Amino acid sequence: MVTGATAGIGAAFARRLAADGHNLVLVARNEDRLREHAAELHDRHGVEVGVLPADLASEEGIAAVEERLADRKHPVDLLVNNAGFGNKGEFLEVPMADELAMLKVHCEAVLRLTSAAVTGMRERRRGGVVNVASVAAFVPRGTYGASKAWVVQFTQGAARDLAGSGVRLMALCPGFVRTEFHERAGMGTDNIPGWMWLDADNLVDAAMKDLARGRSVSIPDPRYKALMGVVKLAPRNLLGGVTSRTGRKYGPQ
Ligand SMILES: NC(=O)c1ccc[n+]([C@@H]2O[C@H](COP(=O)([O-])OP(=O)(O)OC[C@H]3O[C@@H](n4cnc5c(N)ncnc54)[C@H](OP(=O)(O)O)[C@@H]3O)[C@@H](O)[C@H]2O)c1
Repeated sequence: MVTGATAGIGAAFARRLAADGHNLVLVARNEDRLREHAAELHDRHGVEVGVLPADLASEEGIAAVEERLADRKHPVDLLVNNAGFGNKGEFLEVPMADELAMLKVHCEAVLRLTSAAVTGMRERRRGGVVNVASVAAFVPRGTYGASKAWVVQFTQGAARDLAGSGVRLMALCPGFVRTEFHERAGMGTDNIPGWMWLDADNLVDAAMKDLARGRSVSIPDPRYKALMGVVKLAPRNLLGGVTSRTGRKYGPQ
């Protein structure tokens, strides 16, 4: 199962898993796009692709996906909690409802769907969960960075608790990836240098390798691995001056 499977990183996960011959369940809000993507994957790879339209910022949406994950007749062996979005603006500029929706999608949905999936996986003694975080988890970057830091901490902790159970959990921490993310949030990207952009399909290939290796955190690119090494050594104040501004300001970037 892949959440946020109609665009960007989630669509790349769905393509890769279908190409590997796995049946899929795709989750997102836009039902037309879900059906279109499912038909394309079925026609190209001959796998069964189910769709589950759900808004993960709503109680009903999360509950519907939990219910599907708990269906023991149709077990899910790999869950990719990928659905997510950005809010443009700094603290106090973003409406509270949007901040809360972000916490619901990035944290509450990830907690509840991981829990629903892993319960059955642990009984079957096999399975995996990839929680898509971000390198923003490691730097000061508003509610977005804080929510992704939660994803990393939660996933690492759960991976430790489930060590030896046959279930693998991994937080995936991409840098900038060319997807619909920035455009949807109305964020300018002109000030992001070309070398910082990653390709979603390459990112997914690297993530799948890290999952197979048993990593609990994956930063799947040498450029960002090096950058995060520097980030660990840099003073947080200095870091925040750079990272909290990129793409978040109103007005010209
Ligand atoms: N792009 C980057 O630079 C970047 C970097 C680091 C991490 N990430 C993370 O990667 C993940 C995927 O982002 P992306 O870049 O691939 O973005 P994207 O191209 O905008 O795709 C987002 C996907 O999530 C779905 N989605 C959004 N809100 C949802 C909701 N409330 N309920 C259910 N589905 C929802 C969207 O479909 P619908 O609109 O149909 O619901 C879409 O399929 C996110 O968690 C993001 O934080 C992205």
